[in-house]
Amino acid sequence: MAVAVALVPRISSLLHWIAFLTLVLNLSFSVAVKHDNFKTCDQSGFCKRNRAFADAVAASSPPYLYQISPESATFANGQFQATVSKTIADGAIVQLPLNVTFLKSSLARVELDEERRRTGDIELRHGSEARKERYNESPAWALVGGLDVDVSAKLSEKGKKGVTTIQFGENQRFTAIIRHAPFSIDFQRDGDTQVMFNHRGFLNIEHWRQKVEKEESVEESVEKAAEKPGAEDESTWWEESFGGNTDTKPKGPESIALDISFPGFENVFGIPEHTGPLSLRQTRGGSQDDFTDPYRLYNSDVFEYELNSPMTLYGAIPFMQAHKKDSSVGVLWLNAAETWIDITKKKRSGRKLDTDTHWISESGILDVFIFLGPKPQDLTKALAVLTGNTQLPQQFSVGYHQCRWNYMSDEEVKEVDAKFDKHGIPYDVIWLDLEYTDDRKYFTWDMDKFQNPVAMHAQLDVTHRKVVTLIDPHIKNTANYPVVDELKKRDLTIKNKDGDTYEGWCWPGSSHWIDCFNPTARAWWTTLFKPDFWKYSTYNTYIWNDMNEPSVFNGPETTMPKDNLHHGNWEHRDVHNINGMTFVNATYHALLDRQPKKPHRPFTLTRSFYAGSQRLGAMWTGDNLAEWGHLEASLPMILSLNIAGFPNSGADVGGFFGTPSSELLTRWMQAGAFYPFFRAHAHIDTRRREPYVAGPPYTGIMTQAIRLRYQLLPVWYTAFHEASMDNSPILRPQYYVHPDDEAGFSMDDQFYVGSTGLLVKPVTKEGATSADVYFADDEVYYDYFDYTIYSKKGFKTVDAPLNKIPVFARGGHVIPRKDRPRRSSHLMQYDPITLMVVLDKAGNAEGSLYVDDGETFDYESGAQIFAKFVFDKESSSLTSQDIATTGSMTKSYRQEMSKVRVEKVIVIGAPSHWTDKKHITAEQDSKKFEAEMQFHPASGNKAAWAVVRDPGVSIAKDWKISFA
Ligand SMILES: *[C@@H]1O[C@H](CO)[C@@H](O)[C@H](O)[C@H]1NC(C)=O
Ligand SMILES: *[C@@H]1O[C@H](CO)[C@@H](O)[C@H](O)[C@H]1NC(C)=O
Repeated sequence: MAVAVALVPRISSLLHWIAFLTLVLNLSFSVAVKHDNFKTCDQSGFCKRNRAFADAVAASSPPYLYQISPESATFANGQFQATVSKTIADGAIVQLPLNVTFLKSSLARVELDEERRRTGDIELRHGSEARKERYNESPAWALVGGLDVDVSAKLSEKGKKGVTTIQFGENQRFTAIIRHAPFSIDFQRDGDTQVMFNHRGFLNIEHWRQKVEKEESVEESVEKAAEKPGAEDESTWWEESFGGNTDTKPKGPESIALDISFPGFENVFGIPEHTGPLSLRQTRGGSQDDFTDPYRLYNSDVFEYELNSPMTLYGAIPFMQAHKKDSSVGVLWLNAAETWIDITKKKRSGRKLDTDTHWISESGILDVFIFLGPKPQDLTKALAVLTGNTQLPQQFSVGYHQCRWNYMSDEEVKEVDAKFDKHGIPYDVIWLDLEYTDDRKYFTWDMDKFQNPVAMHAQLDVTHRKVVTLIDPHIKNTANYPVVDELKKRDLTIKNKDGDTYEGWCWPGSSHWIDCFNPTARAWWTTLFKPDFWKYSTYNTYIWNDMNEPSVFNGPETTMPKDNLHHGNWEHRDVHNINGMTFVNATYHALLDRQPKKPHRPFTLTRSFYAGSQRLGAMWTGDNLAEWGHLEASLPMILSLNIAGFPNSGADVGGFFGTPSSELLTRWMQAGAFYPFFRAHAHIDTRRREPYVAGPPYTGIMTQAIRLRYQLLPVWYTAFHEASMDNSPILRPQYYVHPDDEAGFSMDDQFYVGSTGLLVKPVTKEGATSADVYFADDEVYYDYFDYTIYSKKGFKTVDAPLNKIPVFARGGHVIPRKDRPRRSSHLMQYDPITLMVVLDKAGNAEGSLYVDDGETFDYESGAQIFAKFVFDKESSSLTSQDIATTGSMTKSYRQEMSKVRVEKVIVIGAPSHWTDKKHITAEQDSKKFEAEMQFHPASGNKAAWAVVRDPGVSIAKDWKISFA
């Protein structure tokens, strides 16, 4: 939910507030993103300065020279250290300490800081208490490992002709070539240059300087800068105003910028969150289809956001990947301040297209990790080593979520719950938005509307359904509210620039914000979630953290002033993009702590995020619109998140604002059934649209889509398990699965689910009855529902009437399912498994199934089953072999799960010599069974298939089925 202030006519205080806002800020309430509320690069002083700097360099009048002081360079124990000196106007020198560190994780890391700020040898203006150093604590929040230094990195050339060359990585196949003057670094793999730093000379570290009081006005200074090529525009060095707010900048100009080039790479991906294509567009000097502003990362409440735009959204992962036929490489720009990224593509002599990027951050140190691939999987894995894996979610959260702003009473919740059952539609979670609280005070209930939360929970408990409630970081500033009293008394708030508790406006009106950078604040937050404090919450109440960018209705760009202060006296400017994650971290740990003896895995949903947030829960793409374009845009957005480290992602099904047609809602439900996080949500002013509302044929078709999600829950949960081991994407774009197929590199409207070979092309066009699907190889693909064969590489138009989702099974995979419709995922816990064995051209297949209790952390003690299935043509057999991590609980868990059987095996593309086969033999625990098999011959373009019923094996132990 967002700052759609105009659309909340219910609360009178808010109405006054709107009137006030309208008056003061002259806001107009049209239904579209308010562009004027958000800066362009031109309106963001440091972005503008760095673009101008780049232009000056390109016109060969570089204002500064950056070079390594030769006597400063040392190399020892896997680390190159030096001082980069920046020569400024009058020949004075600014010292910038440099580390290039080589890591066992095969990554290189470049850190560049500024000596004077580092040692605190600067003066702050306006008597500010802010920290003097450049912010260097992003790693503490974003990183969990991968920093062990590779001491076997080898110096092969030291300083000869001003070049230092170091070899590192596995078999030392990577090389860093550090040029001293001007300073630059090339990164190579097997002798080929893959990534270049400061190749174009855009490196710029804005050093600390004393403010010289000048007579001239801002306008004069801009004018002067414009007249003198290479001169700097000082107009935004010392303060900057936007939308009626002034940033006081006590530390003066302090931006950092660097150009990073990917020679020979035409496609770059990543840096979510943005709308627009997966393959990022040019942002300067491109064609008409390209952008003119850089991609921006500055977590903001951009409601009713626009499509196909480099504008910032709610979250930021500063990871970019470049891909070409035989190489995938990338960078992680570990900086939490406002960041802009320019992308340009150029054809240079003798090479393919090069992609050049220009990274610009407002403050902090320069800290960049370099990934040299060569495969897309190497990048995701290395990024996972650094920033961690997806939290293994509870099983329920992989099901369908029903949300609306708002279900207005406990009776309404019970009614919706009953209607789902009446229509035979499964769901797992019902959500309570803002209005369940007493006057927008979190940790309270509106007891007029929710008169009997206990009975409400009791009804949901029957089907093991859960409640997720909204808890936001703004705390209502009001009398008789113990939460805000304690917050202030304990001094756990975010402060304004003068060090006093910051006050701003959000849902409750006047509010204060908890500062979750502060460990004491996190510890206190934990106490609020205890059912003895928060009445009528239960252990089955889970949490939605919204508005955590943070959204501040009357703040600059709808967020907090940059000169606000956090724990440790860091300015908000330095930590802005991490702020949202600290709040979710506090909530995650609070949920863990509710049941210290046997915790259930927390479930949190966040809107704001940063690299590493995947460790804490799920995210969604914020306040989209009920329009076809938004359905279409959700796919590249979710794919981008998946490859950049945040697989557990989804978009509001149906669109938050506006009312979708029944057709749009149905198509969206079909697409949403393939989002890793599958939630329908709607604005308070929209018509009701639970899947049972639309009536025939829509309700029936939506029911089928949701049931398909539940049928494939074993696939989804197994994919989540994989993501929890190495953060593999759960939705995989074409290029990720077929890294050598150039035709698919920029494709972002179809995807694969985990490593199951399921290929999905959701229909996102109004009135469509067919879809153009791309098959990347000559492997055989089957229609998931009717086994129609597709065996030729290239595009194929397939039928896709409203009741059909184009889903295909690529040959060579075994897909586990649960075929019995139930009301919730918990009720499917012991249901039997169906295995869909999809043979490849050679007649083989492989797959896996991960199972645990879906709730607790017992899986860490071995309470899990991880079956690997192999169908081998040679021996005409299907085997299941356990590859689980075992532990103290393995035995008892297997015992419990021995009742879960394989009830059906369907072999698609079954060999014709099975025609007369009527039986198979199965083997488990050295017992043998015979079971019936039925063969269905190929007909037309539909594959032959065979079905084995009840082979008598349980999933808890290894088994073998012989078809010979
Ligand atoms: C360089 O690394 C050393 C540790 O080897 C660390 O003490 C120092 O702060 C680092 N310098 C920079 C500029 O990051
Ligand atoms: C998240 O919060 C917990 C509990 O306060 C703390 O132990 C942990 O260090 C925090 N995470 C990070 C990345 O700081």
